[in-house]
Amino acid sequence: MHAAGLIEKKRDGGKLSPEEIDALIQGFVHGTVLDYQIAALAMAIVCRGLDIDETAALTQSMLKSGGVLPRLTDGALRVDKHSTGGVGDKVSLVLAPLLAACDLAVPMISGRGLGTSGGTLDKLESIPGFRTDLSADEIASVLCRAGCVITGATADLVPADRKLYALRDVTGTVPSIGLITASILSKKLAESLDALVLDVKWGSGAFMRRREDAAALARTMAEVGPRLGLPTHAILSQMNQPLGRVAGNAVEVREAIEALRGGGPADLRELCLALGSRLLVQVRRAPSLDEARRELSTRLDSGQAMERFEQMVAAQGGDLAALPAAAPAPQGGEICSGRTGFVAAIDTAALGAAIVQLGGGRLQVTDRIDPSVGLEMLVRLGDAVVAGQPLLRLFARERGFAEARRLASGAIVISDAPPHIGPLWEDCRDG
Ligand code: URA
Repeated sequence: MHAAGLIEKKRDGGKLSPEEIDALIQGFVHGTVLDYQIAALAMAIVCRGLDIDETAALTQSMLKSGGVLPRLTDGALRVDKHSTGGVGDKVSLVLAPLLAACDLAVPMISGRGLGTSGGTLDKLESIPGFRTDLSADEIASVLCRAGCVITGATADLVPADRKLYALRDVTGTVPSIGLITASILSKKLAESLDALVLDVKWGSGAFMRRREDAAALARTMAEVGPRLGLPTHAILSQMNQPLGRVAGNAVEVREAIEALRGGGPADLRELCLALGSRLLVQVRRAPSLDEARRELSTRLDSGQAMERFEQMVAAQGGDLAALPAAAPAPQGGEICSGRTGFVAAIDTAALGAAIVQLGGGRLQVTDRIDPSVGLEMLVRLGDAVVAGQPLLRLFARERGFAEARRLASGAIVISDAPPHIGPLWEDCRDG
């Protein structure tokens, strides 16, 4: 059947076979199925959905469109984590070297900021000299030296996703569980992993606002990964306020370093332990989650995780001593509470948008990031505050300051009663 016939079949609610999906995807990559046909297919998928068989077939076909990272001969088990993104989420910066300190190999292919969510690569690039464009050989070499590497995708890795994501981005076809699952898992499968853990976020700063939607995505990914031979565990985590105290780029690297030295904010450490312990148990490096948490805690508190981070940064060309300081804001950089009460809600996406305005994220792909801007939360959800108390501090220059201040000022809601605050994270099987 021609591409048009397959698109019509999906549009009418039919189920595509693995062969049909593969014909469309490989045709797209090789130019025989055209961009507008794939855009129409993506829209049909957004409207009709993909079932688990179709999602697995799409993931497999996208993976097949390029090469994979070769396994090294050192025998180290390979693991990784993926987060659906949020504000202040610097878990990757801590977790990759932490797992390397437990003698696991972590070939983390990461991304840039998307909308109001920060990007791991942008954060790392605030370290002068740090390279995120490593070749496959360089990835292998850093992995051998440090046990972990965090870099962008090579041109050869899942080209189908690069092409498809660019189309989805401009055709309103990003929000589809099947398409998101195939996009994320095809890239992780290309890392040739032994186990994967997923941090699927929901809340005011997440790409999925509703917990039920995040849970549906988490369940799908946790089912498709193992079908394609990759043990996958998903957790759901709240993004109703920035993770940790600070959000931005260089400021997040500093906070990650605090965590790598055994300190840092409690929520950041907790999420690293929750995700890391699930990986250690999955690859049988620990007999139980409790044992795994103990091992991870030791590697943080002893400085071993920090050592791995330093090795990785050096191997990727970065000079940690030259990390820029946070920019001191112009007059009015502190946002104060207008009233006495409790911090009842935080529009976390608005805080992410404020950082973008300051130059800490991109409005257009070509925008240059200012590594030293960002913000520091001075309160957390549920805190009691008095009128006039500072709620957050901006790290800023003149660029975008007025708009960022306006966004941040409206982002924190103070009410008479304290809010209900659910758990920071939960295992996805819980619902
Ligand atoms: N992140 C990805 O890598 N792919 C998607 O489709 C959505 C978020």
